[in-house]
Amino acid sequence: MPDLSGKAALVTGCASGIGAATVRRLAADGARVFGTDLYEARGKALCEEVGARFAVQDVSDRALWPEIVAQAVEAFGRLDILVNNAGMVTGKSIGEVDDGTWDRVLAVNLTGTMAGCRAAIAAMVDNPGGAKGSIINIASTTAMAPLPTDVGYSASKGAVRVLSKSVATWCAKAGYAIRCNTVIPGATETGILDAAEADMPGLKAAVAATSPMNRLADPAETAAAISFLASDECPFMTGAEMLVDGGALSIHPGF
Ligand SMILES: NC(=O)c1ccc[n+]([C@@H]2O[C@H](COP(=O)([O-])OP(=O)(O)OC[C@H]3O[C@@H](n4cnc5c(N)ncnc54)[C@H](O)[C@@H]3O)[C@@H](O)[C@H]2O)c1
Repeated sequence: MPDLSGKAALVTGCASGIGAATVRRLAADGARVFGTDLYEARGKALCEEVGARFAVQDVSDRALWPEIVAQAVEAFGRLDILVNNAGMVTGKSIGEVDDGTWDRVLAVNLTGTMAGCRAAIAAMVDNPGGAKGSIINIASTTAMAPLPTDVGYSASKGAVRVLSKSVATWCAKAGYAIRCNTVIPGATETGILDAAEADMPGLKAAVAATSPMNRLADPAETAAAISFLASDECPFMTGAEMLVDGGALSIHPGF
């Protein structure tokens, strides 16, 4: 198990799914965790269960990001790990999407991730002992194999991949030991998939079948990859992408 003892972590979208599993996993691996979410009751309950702090945050609110990071630094004295996990789907194709839906999904999935990176780096450079940290951005296999039925989600996740590489290389060239990597989950048994299933009945079974394992991921399986990237086990990994998709993108579409 990665050893995260002494590390301080901030996890967005902590109230359910991959975010909740990540809070549990990072705490179990020894980190002090600060979770945030739009939804107070579920987020707070989950965080309290594992001894983590909690704050309400809409990740698309750029002005709030420095304050959230400051709260984490005030609580723990440093910030070592940021997991930009909060995200939403729209279920709207290019034939259906309206401006408000497009703007919202880009604001949450992409701008929220950028604002998180920016605020976290500003804190990580001042960490006691020197500029060091690990940022993990959560994209999606739709960043590589987009959904015709969700143009905004797919485009935002594609952009997150490139954002992570730009952040990673800027930090490296600045001489900071601040890494930034992307985790690319495949279909995972969470609320976001329930929301997508409501728009596209049969989606869950269909996406499960895209994996040669013929199943959905448990969110804990994704959290395990996040914990590894958060740890000091992989100091030369930055700008990297870690697929947690049960092999879905590794097989010829004809098989
Ligand atoms: N479940 C999947 O199949 C799958 C696949 C690939 C990628 N992902 C990505 O994993 C991440 C986590 O999703 P999940 O599957 O756990 O879904 P989920 O719906 O269970 O959890 C998402 C969480 O993000 C929170 N959230 C949404 N908008 C927010 C905002 N503006 N500010 C703060 N919090 C907000 C929600 O309240 C929720 O708690 C997302 O970025 C998603 O795109 C999921």
